[in-house]
Amino acid sequence: MATKGAGTVYVCQSCGNQSRKWLGKCPDCGAWNSFVEERTRSAGGKETGRASFGLRQTVPVAYSDIESQTEARTSSGIAEFDRVLGGGVVPGSLVLIGGEPGIGKSTLLLQIADKISAGGASVLYVSGEESERQIKMRGERLGVEATNLYLLPETNLESILDAVERINPGAVIVDSIQTVFSSKIESAPGSVSQVREMANQFLLLAKSQTIPVFLIGHVTKEGALAGPKALEHIVDTVLYFEGERHYNHRIVRATKNRFGAANELGVFEMTGAGLVAVANPSEMFLQERPRDVAGSVVTACMEGTRPVLVEIQALVSGSKYGTGRRMAQGFDANRIALLIAMLEKRVGFHLIGDDVFINVAGGLEIDEPAADLGVVAAIASSFKNAAIDPQTVLFGEVGLTGEVRGALQAQQRAREAQTLGFKKIIMPATNTAGLERLLGVRTVGVRSVEEALDELF
Ligand SMILES: Nc1ncnc2c1ncn2[C@@H]1O[C@H](COP(=O)(O)OP(=O)(O)OP(=O)(O)O)[C@@H](O)[C@H]1O
Ligand SMILES: [Mg+2]
Ligand SMILES: [Zn+2]
Repeated sequence: MATKGAGTVYVCQSCGNQSRKWLGKCPDCGAWNSFVEERTRSAGGKETGRASFGLRQTVPVAYSDIESQTEARTSSGIAEFDRVLGGGVVPGSLVLIGGEPGIGKSTLLLQIADKISAGGASVLYVSGEESERQIKMRGERLGVEATNLYLLPETNLESILDAVERINPGAVIVDSIQTVFSSKIESAPGSVSQVREMANQFLLLAKSQTIPVFLIGHVTKEGALAGPKALEHIVDTVLYFEGERHYNHRIVRATKNRFGAANELGVFEMTGAGLVAVANPSEMFLQERPRDVAGSVVTACMEGTRPVLVEIQALVSGSKYGTGRRMAQGFDANRIALLIAMLEKRVGFHLIGDDVFINVAGGLEIDEPAADLGVVAAIASSFKNAAIDPQTVLFGEVGLTGEVRGALQAQQRAREAQTLGFKKIIMPATNTAGLERLLGVRTVGVRSVEEALDELF
């Protein structure tokens, strides 16, 4: 931070970028009207760190003298959550959990608080949004019976740190980071400067006490509160509730993790008794799949370390306007445009005058090239108005010349398809070696989109 004594700066509320003048558009993240005037910290800047939680004296330590830690992870008590964290809770880690209002952040963390405290550690649950009565009510619904779980309705950082000192908890949960403020910082509570400084304080707390600290962060589209984006580089791990509230299931994804694979996914179902892990996500995502309908196809994705089968749907229909629109949910729209251009040029589909809609069923967001072939097949299926055999799975990256490229973890994907009873897998030719014999399921290796389409129709 560029703090040269007291003064005002303009801070982008979406990413934290600072400027001396007000700007209409943030040059860093591209947000409009996101700059808000903030007072910088008064005199010095040293004041905010609390001595008691300052880091140890920092002196260089010889690499060879540092004790290696053998996996000191502990379980959060919820296996699906452990998975997202990369195999459990790391002591001293700062974890941010973001998500839209009402998606289930408080629910999940209260369940985790319960489980962690049942394991013997005391847990401090700080809430700046709800009274202890409200939390207790939720807890009763969730069946929380913790005896060493402490609730603290508080928003003042200094009071929170005092409570930490008194209770000496084994884990701290802050609901939400946007509500916490320090009176030692002049910026308004909820502003990016405050929120970032608060996150830094909790980072110090986590590292100095070697306890896990979980921060809940709101994601608001309007940016009224500082977006968790501004916190991502401070914390060790970032988890997001993905998709929409309208589904019964909730997807929690690690978008950053210093202690595990990014992109790792946890799938839960929201019930009256809280979030319940979904045992087989592929099965769930395919549950409502229509059979023998044009435009529906199943592809195999890798979400972190786990293969997941999902249904991709395409709708190709004549556009009312000269040039068709391309819209996508759960898949990168630019990539769709590129795949459509490839289909026009290499396969001879005429799609210019058609609207093309793509939807990943179940609210999952797919971000990997191996799903290309599924998207292409879905578009082709809708375009030709010909259904794809419901027992077939496709995956593979598609290049601009229509070539099908190999995918990572092809075997795991194929195995998931086989496990779920699919009979045929259309996949990159470079990945098929030995698979058919290994899995006992028919694999068809293809080198190009044309080959794949020939196989399908
Ligand atoms: N009795 C109930 N039965 C089933 N689901 C419920 C029940 N009560 C609440 N929920 C679910 O819990 C959700 C609210 O969860 P929670 O309060 O944990 O969300 P949050 O992300 O913390 O929200 P906020 O941003 O408002 O703090 C509701 O949207 C609803 O889906
Ligand atoms: Mg909440
Ligand atoms: Zn910005």
